[in-house]
Amino acid sequence: MATKALWGDGRLCYGGDWNPEQWPPRVWREDVDLMRAAGVNLVTVGVFAWSRLEPTPGRYTFDWLDEVLDLLHGGGIRVALATPTASPPPWFSLRHPDALPVTADGTRLQHGSRDTYCAAAPAYRTAARGIADALAARYADHPALALWHVHNEYGTICHCPHTEAAFRRWLTDRHGDLTALNDAWATSFWSQHYTDWAQVGAPRATQYLANPGHLLDFRRFWSDTLLSAYTEQRDLLRAANPAIPITTNYVLGDWVPVDHARWAREVDLVAVDHYPSATDLGAEEQTALAADLARGWARHGRGRPAPWLLMESAPNQIHTAGRMHTKEPGRMTRHGLAHVARGSAGVMFFQWRAPAGGAERFHSAVVTHAGADTRVFREATDLGAALGRLAGTAPGRVEASVAIAYDAASAWALRHPGMPRAGLDHTAEVTAAHRALWHAGITVDVVPPGDPLDGCRLLVLPALYLASDATVDWVRRHVHGGGHLLVTWLSGVADEHARIRLGGYPGAYRDLLGVRVEEFHPLADDERLPLTGGGTGTIWSETVRLAGAEPVTAYLGGGLTDQPAVTRHRIGDARAWYVSTRPDDDTWRRLLAEAARLAGVTPACPGAPPGVEAVRRRDGEHGRLYLLNHTDQPQRVPATGWELLTGAPVDGLLTMPPGGVAVLCEQLH
Ligand code: GAL
Repeated sequence: MATKALWGDGRLCYGGDWNPEQWPPRVWREDVDLMRAAGVNLVTVGVFAWSRLEPTPGRYTFDWLDEVLDLLHGGGIRVALATPTASPPPWFSLRHPDALPVTADGTRLQHGSRDTYCAAAPAYRTAARGIADALAARYADHPALALWHVHNEYGTICHCPHTEAAFRRWLTDRHGDLTALNDAWATSFWSQHYTDWAQVGAPRATQYLANPGHLLDFRRFWSDTLLSAYTEQRDLLRAANPAIPITTNYVLGDWVPVDHARWAREVDLVAVDHYPSATDLGAEEQTALAADLARGWARHGRGRPAPWLLMESAPNQIHTAGRMHTKEPGRMTRHGLAHVARGSAGVMFFQWRAPAGGAERFHSAVVTHAGADTRVFREATDLGAALGRLAGTAPGRVEASVAIAYDAASAWALRHPGMPRAGLDHTAEVTAAHRALWHAGITVDVVPPGDPLDGCRLLVLPALYLASDATVDWVRRHVHGGGHLLVTWLSGVADEHARIRLGGYPGAYRDLLGVRVEEFHPLADDERLPLTGGGTGTIWSETVRLAGAEPVTAYLGGGLTDQPAVTRHRIGDARAWYVSTRPDDDTWRRLLAEAARLAGVTPACPGAPPGVEAVRRRDGEHGRLYLLNHTDQPQRVPATGWELLTGAPVDGLLTMPPGGVAVLCEQLH
């Protein structure tokens, strides 16, 4: 279904969140004219409009929304109609104080922002279904409706009595009985053995270190609870008109208690919001990672490559580290196309028009407080035109033959208290490996453990702490099928319940890697351990004993001089690397590039100069080579084809302006 049902004609989606409830009808008409001028074809409407749609319980005021949808339809703009359940109105909170969320330390949060609900509270669920149902009944057949956008960024957490009751039910389903739960959570430690389900609660603020199994299951439970809040709305909407695709926008971040891979099967189109926190080249690295994650989830959900959608991004300023920073001229188009290069079905902004008041009054928008006669609006119009030029021909699959595994549960578990070092972070390790390969010009798939690895020549496991038996099998099958493997420190150390796999680290992969780790030696934040060959190790070091592998690099210092830091184990034609520290960025890039080279992987555009990102999408013999010049200098890139944005032929060499973008139509063999 997904984008085909949205357009059916190969057009890319372009638009963003629009909040007509904040403006009088005169502004609506002006907005629709401006949207048309900018090439907008899809807007999200109603995402925080609950109090304007249901001002008192059960009384709906849809007249303004009728007018808005008709106006958009008349202007040829389609609608991602949101259910407004991320922001219950004041009457709801007053009426149902038991549905307000409770933090781990027992504080009940009050109305005043958004997301003030507990997703396990029956009253919230009933009210959310009520407004979703009413919207479905009224708009499911509206000709402007292209997509249902359920809720906004599911990601809240709660510790109230409703939550605890639901948690116990979830645990009963997962573990069956208390014997299994006690075993999974290793409750013989510190006298935590449970003898009655009533003793099991949410992990509240406690005296000292909490139980890791308890913490991990609570996160999993929340992911499933939020998912059920989504699926019950989805099912109502689907029943009203099965032809309309349904999604919800994912928000990325370690605080989010959502395993997006598990959700991917439940949405018709994976949609992500992305706001890079870095200001420089780091923003491009983050963009590439977010897009590769989204593509991985989209494929996971459908069992084959599938489009996904950048549902929110900032047209200009982003709030980072206490201040807003500007997206430099030209960056909007480059950013947007960076997502399209990696599989996005379009580019959507948060938000269309800047609000005159409210909490996010200074958030960037396409139509700013200064109006539409602005650089930002002109750039948005240019981007709309560029997306228009890319429409109509097969976009192709993103070509990648390296995969990095990302696992939400491993990210949660590494953050538990009581680890050998503070600040251990699976997401940061995935990011570092991805960044290193990005700088080496190698396109990467980011995949959930267990995903099919067809075409993957090198699988990278960066601090993939948890390994179920199924994950171990998955890795084993990849290597025994001839695939190369690179595993870093702390991968496979624990099972899916966060219990340590015994016999020497990394318990899950020792035999594949031909090593046995006896001891960890975490490094201080500012510590750098020299390595043979010139690099340094950071964060972590280990006593690695060889058990079949050969040493590649050794430590020089830290009491480990001449002991292996990086090893390689031959298994048939494949190689299984073990990296027992986090190399500095340069060393990491060289090491991963070498592992990729030995696995037979080549960059998408081998001659591209540093700072020029290249991603190829392929459909049989037809290629689309996306080239993004992130430098402030002109760059010359070896390429041949037909440049789609300018319509000019390119024969052997393309000169790109500073900050420029090119999309080459190539004939491949
Ligand atoms: C998103 C959210 C939007 C808006 C935006 C600000 O995460 O969905 O509603 O708050 O952040 O950057």
